[in-house]
Amino acid sequence: MRYQGREVDVEGRVRLVMESALTARDRVGVQDFVLLENYNSEAAFIENLRRRFGENLIYTYIGSVLVSVNPYKELEIYSKQQMDRYRGVSFYEISPHIYALSDNTYRAMRTERKDQCILISGESGAGKTEASKKILLYYAVTCPTNDHMATLGERLLQSNPVLEAFGNAKTLRNDNSSRFGKYMDVQFDFRGAPVGSHILNYLLEKSRVVHQNHGERNFHIFYQLLDGGDDDLLTTLDLERNPQNYHYLVKGNCPRLSSVSDKNNWKVVIKALSVIGFTEEDVQKLLNIIASVLHLGNTQFGEGEEGETYITTETQITNLAKLLGVDGSALREALTHKKLTAKGEEMISPLSFEQAVSARDALAKAVYGRTFTWLVEKINQSLAPKEEIYHSGKACSVIGLLDIYGFEVLQHNSFEQFCINYCNEKLQQLFIELTLRSEQEEYETEGIAWETVQYFDNKIICDLIEEKHKGIISILDEECLRPGETCDVSFLEKLEDTLGGHPHFVTHKLANGKTRRVMSREEFRLLHYAGEVNYNVNGFLDKNNDSLSRNLKEVMCQSDNQILSHCFRREEVIDQKRPEMAATQFKNSLTKLMEILMSKEPSYVRCIKPNDAKQPGRFDEVLVRHQVKYLGLMENLRVRRAGFAYRRRFEAFLQRYKPLCPETWPNWHGRLADGVSTLVNHLGYKPEEYKLGRSKIFIRFPKTLFTTEDALEAKKPDIALALQTSWRGYRERAKYQRIRHAVIVIQSGWRGMKARRRARRRRQAAELIRRLIKGFIYRHEEYCPENEYFLDHIRFSFLKNLRKNLPTNVLDKSWPVPPPLLVEASEHLRRLNMRNMVMKYCRRVQPEWKKQMMQKVVASEIFKDQKDSYPQSVGRLFLDSRLEREQISLKVVQTLGNDKVQYGVPVVKYDRRGFKPRPRQLLLTNTFAVLVDRTKIKQKIDYSALRGISVGSLSDGMFVLHMPNEDTKQKGDVVLHCNHVIELVTKLAMMASKVNYVNISPGSIRFAVARGKEGIIDFIRGSELKVAKGKRGHLLVTAPRINNT
Ligand SMILES: Nc1ncnc2c1ncn2[C@@H]1O[C@H](COP(=O)(O)OP(=O)(O)OP(=O)(O)O)[C@@H](O)[C@H]1O
Ligand SMILES: [Mg+2]
Repeated sequence: MRYQGREVDVEGRVRLVMESALTARDRVGVQDFVLLENYNSEAAFIENLRRRFGENLIYTYIGSVLVSVNPYKELEIYSKQQMDRYRGVSFYEISPHIYALSDNTYRAMRTERKDQCILISGESGAGKTEASKKILLYYAVTCPTNDHMATLGERLLQSNPVLEAFGNAKTLRNDNSSRFGKYMDVQFDFRGAPVGSHILNYLLEKSRVVHQNHGERNFHIFYQLLDGGDDDLLTTLDLERNPQNYHYLVKGNCPRLSSVSDKNNWKVVIKALSVIGFTEEDVQKLLNIIASVLHLGNTQFGEGEEGETYITTETQITNLAKLLGVDGSALREALTHKKLTAKGEEMISPLSFEQAVSARDALAKAVYGRTFTWLVEKINQSLAPKEEIYHSGKACSVIGLLDIYGFEVLQHNSFEQFCINYCNEKLQQLFIELTLRSEQEEYETEGIAWETVQYFDNKIICDLIEEKHKGIISILDEECLRPGETCDVSFLEKLEDTLGGHPHFVTHKLANGKTRRVMSREEFRLLHYAGEVNYNVNGFLDKNNDSLSRNLKEVMCQSDNQILSHCFRREEVIDQKRPEMAATQFKNSLTKLMEILMSKEPSYVRCIKPNDAKQPGRFDEVLVRHQVKYLGLMENLRVRRAGFAYRRRFEAFLQRYKPLCPETWPNWHGRLADGVSTLVNHLGYKPEEYKLGRSKIFIRFPKTLFTTEDALEAKKPDIALALQTSWRGYRERAKYQRIRHAVIVIQSGWRGMKARRRARRRRQAAELIRRLIKGFIYRHEEYCPENEYFLDHIRFSFLKNLRKNLPTNVLDKSWPVPPPLLVEASEHLRRLNMRNMVMKYCRRVQPEWKKQMMQKVVASEIFKDQKDSYPQSVGRLFLDSRLEREQISLKVVQTLGNDKVQYGVPVVKYDRRGFKPRPRQLLLTNTFAVLVDRTKIKQKIDYSALRGISVGSLSDGMFVLHMPNEDTKQKGDVVLHCNHVIELVTKLAMMASKVNYVNISPGSIRFAVARGKEGIIDFIRGSELKVAKGKRGHLLVTAPRINNT
């Protein structure tokens, strides 16, 4: 924020500060007298007022005080749009208006939570009542409402026409002059909505009921009733339409008003009564009373020959008794007689003519006055806040509105004017108290350098009137109560005796020649703050006594009209104590009012009357000057100019504006004064703009404050953001803590569960181990509880292990070692398994393979453990033939014809004699075998003739086919060698069905040579295979050992 310049840059917006805006908006004069160049000049002051008044600018400020000049014409400045213009806008930012003051007061109430009051002062006809109505209207329209409050707003507004009808009258100064004082409290709830209201009324000018000065009228309601009431109503009330027929309405000789229509106002009042909540019955009773006052006025008396007084208007009395709801003869009696109590005895004595007239008038005044009080009470009931709101404890704040009769000087001033002007003196005192004196005292206590402004303090006049024992009111009371002959003149003399020499008190006797000339002997003059007023003492005592004869009171309290029976209480008649005098009552109620006002924050509206003729556009300078003077506006301005526009306690100032400075935001922990100093330095206040007192900061110019306010307004989103952020942070942290806590709870629950489960498992494991150990110890015992688990476990483990490690093929002979208990079962299982495997194996075997197997089985039967080369042969498959088809001579095949060669193998044939080796092919058919030398079949051996087959036990391939001896065709046994001797011999033995004829000789084989001779083949082990003729003529076969392991 750039603060020093004429422009303030707030968030990129450029706003004009107050002064430049002022001139742009309002070129006529200055809208705040504080800005007046020549602030000491009364002429300049009045000229400013005049110029503005000429332009219909009726409002001007002196600081926070609103000066209002009565325009005497309707101005277009009170519309809803205008209200909206002033809502929430800073006081000085926009042209002066009663709405600005209303809004400012309202906002001060809301933000500072302090009760406020608006004091409207000015002389009669200056516009006080109008101003108060405008303020009420503003609140009724702009404040937030709900249904209940909407009706409350309406009632608030409607209370005005009713009170005005009964309490206002036309006077010489004002066609609608308030003849009572009114202080109205409006209560607002914590949301700022009006929730209730209460009215205090002060001293109604009752004398007007029976007497009016020339050119004045009685209270409006009488004329409104006669003009507006319909014929039926008037008939019921026995009234005639013409006001001239009523004595109480003709005194001022002014039955009609040009400015207002009684007829229209009647309608308004009747409607308002119903809005406020008056029932038709209430209204009827009220009108009965109003009518009865008129009838009372017309009640006439005559004087008998013996000086007794009697009533000449009998019908009036009948009507009157009917309307008042009292007994006619009792009323008649009471109006013409008085009751005296002497020595405990009651006596009735007739009244003189004058006494009867004054008793009648006293009754009229009492009836009207008390009815008015009842009316205010009734309105208060209707405006009272709803119980629950009142007792809800939610802070309610109050704005008080004081509209009280203005200072008035008439041709003939009496007790009423005395009271009215006394009241104005008191208000002036309050004004001085709250603004001038307290302002100056405050500068002193705060230690701010200050040039004292002289002003007239009217305390001396207040004291003159109200001081105990010495004041006018005390003297008046004393005179009323003093036994013996007292009269108004003796009162005047007493005043002269006591107050003679007082600078503000003059009587004809005390005055100098010049004054004496303009004063009558029955007058005393008071030099009020607002001017000199001569009061005629005639009627002072009576009016102060305000007494109604006891028997009239008795009659009235028997009335069957509830309003009257409420107003005239029986206790009053019984109670012998004298009530307080009127002036003292008034004084006391004013003291209370002052207390109420002092407890609130005041705002002022100072009303000025521009002319006495009630004319628009006329500005009577002399009249205005007089008002400016006695309202103390010049002093007000001087104090304002010399002083500071705004002050706040350090804590309040710091509290409000601390967000504008980083050092003071969010909290300042040092001394308050230092905090404020830091803050204003940061804001760039110039030294002449402010001063720091002992507990308050004083800001000289409003614009300084407004610029600061603007900056605060612009800062608010940031503050909101900061608050939001920290709130969210807090919320998230809380959420996190909650989640964390939950996680810990879950975690510990889970861990607990896991630990319990583990402990259980351990326990179980330990138990198991224990059982196993015990079982192990008892393992050799019979199956018993101690070892059952162990043994079962061993069994189970064995079986489980077995299942995993079962032999997978028939050749695999492995088998786990069973525990002793399962030896038998294991054996069964093993066998079963083997059988199963064999079965499976067999199912899988192909015919080819089966043949092979069968041959192998036969080979095994023949050779196993018999011949060295057998183990080696097991793994080698037997082939279908060792000769290819083409290796066998076609000729041989043809020779064999149908006997198909089933197997062929190359062999070496050894001659039986010389053992010469000759390569041959041995071909096997189904029924015989042939030895073939290339294409020639050398020998055919029938299987049936085959005697046996001999084979050596070594690893050689020698074998002998033994032929029958007797067969001469045969040349003996055939000695052969074949590399596949096991395969060949097996196949041959099988084909020839000579399996059992295979002979395996370990050492030598004998074979038959032709003609009974025998050959021998010797077998010996050697390093290598060798077949040769041995030394003994044997065939010697050397065969190597084959390592079979
Ligand atoms: N703001 C205004 N706009 C138009 N007319 C106004 C305004 N203020 C006052 N008047 C006129 O002046 C008359 C007198 O005003 P008002 O009744 O408010 O005076 P007052 O100060 O209450 O006098 P009193 O002390 O006699 O009650 C009103 O009836 C009205 O005609
Ligand atoms: Mg008024």
